Amino acid sequence: MKRGVDDLALFGGHAEFDQTLLVGRPSTGDRTKLYERLDRALDNGRLTGGGMLVREFEDRIAHMAGTRHCIAVCNATAALEVIIRAQNLHGEIIIPSMTFIATAHAVRYMGATPVFADIDPVTGTIDPDHVETLITPHTTAIIGVHLWGQPCDVDRLADIAHRHNLTLVYDAAHGIGCSHGPTPIGGFGHAEVFSFNATKVVNSFEGGAIVTNDDDFALRVRQAHNFGFIAPGLIGGLGTNAKMSEASGAMGLTSLDVFDEVVAHNKAGYDLYRDLLAGLPGLTVHAYDPRHRNNFQYVVVKVDQDHAGLHRDVLLDVLRAENVYALMYFSPACHQLEPYRSEHPVTLPHTERLAEQVIALPTGPATTSSDIHRVCEIVRFAIEHSAEIAAQWQDNQPETAEQLVSSHGEA
Ligand SMILES: Cc1ncc(COP(=O)(O)O)c(C=O)c1O
Repeated sequence: MKRGVDDLALFGGHAEFDQTLLVGRPSTGDRTKLYERLDRALDNGRLTGGGMLVREFEDRIAHMAGTRHCIAVCNATAALEVIIRAQNLHGEIIIPSMTFIATAHAVRYMGATPVFADIDPVTGTIDPDHVETLITPHTTAIIGVHLWGQPCDVDRLADIAHRHNLTLVYDAAHGIGCSHGPTPIGGFGHAEVFSFNATKVVNSFEGGAIVTNDDDFALRVRQAHNFGFIAPGLIGGLGTNAKMSEASGAMGLTSLDVFDEVVAHNKAGYDLYRDLLAGLPGLTVHAYDPRHRNNFQYVVVKVDQDHAGLHRDVLLDVLRAENVYALMYFSPACHQLEPYRSEHPVTLPHTERLAEQVIALPTGPATTSSDIHRVCEIVRFAIEHSAEIAAQWQDNQPETAEQLVSSHGEA
């Protein structure tokens, strides 16, 4: 309980949490089951390359996503790269800038140019109207991102891709178990990509999956993710090694076993955050459209400095000093980062506004309701004492503060 601003850890007080509270503590499930699965893989000696655990994992992901095909991969970034190469996507690929840098880097790493589109200011997902204005004769694809598990405007994007004969792929790194209306994320566009990185709601240590209903696409991608092999001894073309290992399959299956419980836990945490932070000036907990299913792996808060009285960065510093490791998902936006900002400077007003305001708060299986109460108390205290905190913060970090004040003044 903070009585005054000097009790904040940022200004020399005692940190609220002894151990760091993270945004995405891994969802590991039942360890006994994990060890049983690992034992089975070790016993049968097949540790990668089409083992039974990865096959089972692929079947379960395809079932959840409602797709005919699932190819498990070593991570979502490699999955995007495999798709770009296997589909020979070159020239310009339109993507949102409000995403993790992996989306942009995958495009660029494969030799294509990411062209950044602005977002819908309400959902934060790619704006189809802006996408359409960015299409040139060099455009070969659109990669939408289902930000925080919210579906893109899949109907509009499908129409645009169809009219311009473009490949349409979704980065669904956040999207496992989410939907567009009643339809699960997974079957939209030519293919979609999930991430099962340790911080995600389904965790396979590192991992991802490509899901699609297109038989040819699936075949090409399956070959490309395994050195181009069509069959043992037979290579159909170029490929890389993006396979998922059996150890990751074991973790992924064990994490999937508790998926429903984890989502229920996250939803309860999300509701609690919304209740406890309601009514604070300048602070909004991002609302998910109830027409679509969400997995609630992200509790995103937006800080509007004009009304909150302090900048997002100040609140972030306050929280981190208390050992609440909140994250900026995603800030800066991709077009504000190198190499993109030097090479192709662009202005994306909605993206820049959101990137300046977002904070993702701790959630996941290891975050208790007591943790959430304590985090919200700190946030409430910070907003209620915003003027004093902002002034003291500015005194401590004069240069950064000046930059923030001036950039805000220009906006
Ligand atoms: C939107 C988005 N795309 C891609 C990735 C990359 O996923 P991975 O870590 O599995 O490569 C992430 C990871 O967090 C992400 O958030």
